[in-house]
Amino acid sequence: MSMETCGLDARCAGCIRRSDEQMEAAVADDVPNHYGGGNDLAGAIADSLRRAGKDMDRLTTADLATVDEFHIRARKATLELAQSLNLDAASRVLDIGSGLGGPARTLAETFGCHVTGIDITQAFCDAATALSSWVGLSDRVDFRQGDATSLPFDDAVFDAAMTIHVAMNIAAKDRMYAEARRVLKPGSRFVVYDVLQGEGGDILYPVPWARDSSISHLASPDSMPALLSHAGFRILKVEDSTEEGQRWFEEMAGRLAKSAPAVTFQAFLGNDFPAMARNQVINLRERRIRTVSYVCEA
Ligand SMILES: C[S@@+](CC[C@H](N)C(=O)[O-])C[C@H]1O[C@@H](n2cnc3c(N)ncnc32)[C@H](O)[C@@H]1O
Repeated sequence: MSMETCGLDARCAGCIRRSDEQMEAAVADDVPNHYGGGNDLAGAIADSLRRAGKDMDRLTTADLATVDEFHIRARKATLELAQSLNLDAASRVLDIGSGLGGPARTLAETFGCHVTGIDITQAFCDAATALSSWVGLSDRVDFRQGDATSLPFDDAVFDAAMTIHVAMNIAAKDRMYAEARRVLKPGSRFVVYDVLQGEGGDILYPVPWARDSSISHLASPDSMPALLSHAGFRILKVEDSTEEGQRWFEEMAGRLAKSAPAVTFQAFLGNDFPAMARNQVINLRERRIRTVSYVCEA
């Protein structure tokens, strides 16, 4: 990436601002490229499901569960978090960093609410839209491309929001949480479930959210309360699920070693996925990472 400067003053405010903007633009491309770039993910997932003998006209959300809940402890974690969101069929929910849309569909199917997903990776938004139509949930979810640090919504329009395993890719967490607070109605709930830097040392790469440190920005457990409260949230509950996450990952890695399900995260992470899974087991076991959730009130 070239960064032209005026050449007159190393502290020139215009040059510093331009280079910051160029850095952010480069990173904004790096994250979608990491997650599968411009590939036809829905097509690849459909092929895998057909090869495994699934009838595409009778697909259920359970058939997608091994690929569309892209976080540690998968659907179980989503349902636990959802209990804190006070949802009913009238709720309008925002999923920040919605990926392939599994968590959004889980909430829409379970509570009858409407969920809008926003994600920086266009290929994920396209796939999330296609997967939702396969399981008949298109009228209760919608997905659009956008950046969590600059949400394309008016103030105070959502009744609840969640973000699951997303902030690991975002350096400007203060902007991300301030934006979440802005679009939520006062008194509504926000749940954050993220991978944090543990006390066991630097993480081993590749991991599912990054092949190296350039797009990995883990917060520490100590920094999270201030980040959330400065954004205007009151923290109601904190839960560290590292131990359960470790067991879940060990079991998943063991199952994958024996026989792979119809479709896995390999559909978009490619041949690096087995190494990512092995590293995650070590990262969790050695407490190089921790998984922690925060239930907040706006
Ligand atoms: C590990 S995936 C989790 C997806 C989903 N939340 C889930 O649990 O299934 C991380 C997601 O965060 C998205 N993401 C990363 N940085 C983002 C940003 N600045 N704005 C919006 N989405 C972002 C990625 O594109 C990816 O879909």
